[in-house]
Amino acid sequence: MQNNPDWKDKFCVVTGVASGIGAATAKSLANQEARVLGLDRLDENEFRTKASALANIEYKKCDLSSPKEIEQVFRAISHEKLLALFNVAAMPSHGLGISELSVEQWDQVLAVNLRAVFLLSKFSLPLFKSNSGGTIVNVSSVHAFASMKNHAAYAASKGGLNSLTSQLALELNPLGVRVVAVAPGSINTPMTTKDLAKDRELLENLGFPTDGKSIGHVGQPEEIAEVLIWIASPKASFINGTTITADAGLLARLAYE
Ligand SMILES: NC(=O)c1ccc[n+]([C@@H]2O[C@H](COP(=O)([O-])OP(=O)(O)OC[C@H]3O[C@@H](n4cnc5c(N)ncnc54)[C@H](O)[C@@H]3O)[C@@H](O)[C@H]2O)c1
Repeated sequence: MQNNPDWKDKFCVVTGVASGIGAATAKSLANQEARVLGLDRLDENEFRTKASALANIEYKKCDLSSPKEIEQVFRAISHEKLLALFNVAAMPSHGLGISELSVEQWDQVLAVNLRAVFLLSKFSLPLFKSNSGGTIVNVSSVHAFASMKNHAAYAASKGGLNSLTSQLALELNPLGVRVVAVAPGSINTPMTTKDLAKDRELLENLGFPTDGKSIGHVGQPEEIAEVLIWIASPKASFINGTTITADAGLLARLAYE
């Protein structure tokens, strides 16, 4: 979708922009002539080298585990009118059972995947007010609903994110801000797979078909980016305070057949 008038010259913020779903979202928004500020934990040089396809977006380094860094970013853009905040960044699971998972590891996952969304939302409020409304789109996960063992912190962070989404929707409705979460299934990004061809067997054994068509198959980041951008558009004006799954039917399936 090129040159969509909904996005032309509109300012939006995308976190986790250096990779996967965040990069795909920023690319699509920039192609639609939005003004995109991307946030990630990489230095600007590293980001520019890694994400050369995103040369036309603004970028700021921001470690989302740091409340101070988040506040500083928003102080620097306090003059902007914000149309949409895409909270995409997250830490993956450590893949440890609770006997092995340390307090520090638990706190780290919750800080990036949940607390940061609270802070990004909080600091973006004046910018949404300047715009007379907008949308916050939070990227959750199917792990909030059904998971595998050894993902306690990650799954809890995403369950918390769904609840936070509902709360924010109630609170921000008077400002004209909608808040919606999207819970993807398995997506071909570095969080799930470094190389889909090499990891094919592993994913298949876990129950995630890689054929691009079976129920619950591994999807592409662009497929989620499209959903996020649609949710943030006026076309999705009746969707608010809820979590929408985009998982190729993964949660509908009882067994891998
Ligand atoms: N890939 C999947 O299968 C899948 C499935 C369900 C949900 N998700 C969710 O989708 C979102 C995007 O994940 P992805 O698959 O694109 O993964 P990814 O690893 O490709 O991208 C995640 C990005 O977040 C950034 N990030 C991590 N910690 C950060 C921090 N402390 N500060 C700033 N940035 C930080 C990383 O640098 C990276 O660029 C996440 O919320 C993830 O939980 C992914």
